[in-house]
Amino acid sequence: MTPTPPVPRPDARSGAGAAAAGAAAAGSTGDPHSERYAARTAGMTASEIRALFAVASRPEVVSLAGGMPNLAALPLDSLATEVGHLIAAEGQGALQYGSAQGVPVLREQIGDVMAFEAGSLSATGGFAPDDVVVTVGSQSALDMLTRLFVDPGDVVLAESPSYVGALGSFAAYQAEVRHVAMDDDGLVPAALEEALQRLVREGRRAKFLYTVPNFHNPVGVSLAADRRGEVVELCRRYGVLIVEDNPYGLLGFDGQTYPSLRSLDPENVVYLGSFSKIFASGLRVGWALAPHGIRDKLVLAAESATLCPPAFTQLVVSRYLATHDWRSLVKSFREMYRERCEAMLGALETHLPDGCHWTRPRGGFFVWATVPEGVDTRAMLPRAVSARVAYASGTGFHADGSGARHMRLSFCYPPPERIVEGVRRLAGVLDGELEVLRTFGLSGSGARPAPGTSGTPGPQAPSVDTA
Ligand SMILES: Cc1ncc(COP(=O)(O)O)c(C=O)c1O
Repeated sequence: MTPTPPVPRPDARSGAGAAAAGAAAAGSTGDPHSERYAARTAGMTASEIRALFAVASRPEVVSLAGGMPNLAALPLDSLATEVGHLIAAEGQGALQYGSAQGVPVLREQIGDVMAFEAGSLSATGGFAPDDVVVTVGSQSALDMLTRLFVDPGDVVLAESPSYVGALGSFAAYQAEVRHVAMDDDGLVPAALEEALQRLVREGRRAKFLYTVPNFHNPVGVSLAADRRGEVVELCRRYGVLIVEDNPYGLLGFDGQTYPSLRSLDPENVVYLGSFSKIFASGLRVGWALAPHGIRDKLVLAAESATLCPPAFTQLVVSRYLATHDWRSLVKSFREMYRERCEAMLGALETHLPDGCHWTRPRGGFFVWATVPEGVDTRAMLPRAVSARVAYASGTGFHADGSGARHMRLSFCYPPPERIVEGVRRLAGVLDGELEVLRTFGLSGSGARPAPGTSGTPGPQAPSVDTA
């Protein structure tokens, strides 16, 4: 969570430069179309660890890598009944094209979900169904917002580290990501102000600040209540829009929720919500709540991307909200994730070698661990997978590929006893790395070159495995 030096402006390449890059890629990939791709595809790189996941998803490997919600508590029988009713009663509408803004009844119900988190509808910062745009998961909202705001080379501010899927969108539109330091209380306002001032000195302005204020992915911490006003005020003062991404806000283990940034400045915040972590990620239903002008542009962006989000999945979500006690289900999700998080924290305490430290989340899915100097979590990953445990290296969560001393450990999916076993295996791998370091010194660790020097990996594309 140290401040990351700004990365060089992305290469907003000329056609000739892009073609040269394409030709180089053709040599390495054998893709006969590589000379034709747009320059922006240079930022679309596959996750460096995607290849490992074929192995990591084998049953003998404990995966602490993925961000998949655990759906075991879903009432599948009654859901099946409701889906049947939906087809029988509303089949023609449910299977037809719909509006690009989303199904009206669901946009109304999203108000109930936001009110549940905020305490009341008025505490959401003012809610009108007409301000909601339903999206294909919040990932598509991120993609559309970046498409709307970012020209090649434009600056986006984001926490250090940041959600890999957002970084993938930013890279795809050739944004220059400047990371802003976090600590245990989330984004550091002084670091944000420094980044904003620096931009002023350069005669530039960030297009937006992207932030995950609640139970952050990948760090697990939340932005302290007393920092929220400061962050909002700084962005307002420097004329920077805020994109507030909040898929985990309802998953505080003790039910704790925080005021949204949007509630503090509705005209300068685009709020993103999602049903992925509180219901079903496979339905791909999320939403954006945006000031009017941005809402209108989002609708246009949605039309050009997909014509409209699928009516069917929206109506499934809508029926679920109408017919199930979803608030109780959210509470049972909280309990399940709390138990898994406690299992992980206990195992880390018991097994991890001295010199490691980690965050202690109070909600969400993730622990962010830091390993002793010299250990490179990216280089270590194949050895971990051989030892039948997988994690996500910190390098995927930084636009410049730094972060090799960190790893994200997910507690959302495996049952507690598997989490404990996974951490025990991970500790064995770390012990081995430290032994090599003690014997051969730092150079024996497979440590990678510093960011900015040759060999620095680029940002990773989002992958469902690392979401
Ligand atoms: C912070 C964050 N934002 C957005 C997403 C994407 O969620 P969705 O499934 O709604 O597209 C994820 C998924 O893991 C996430 O962690």
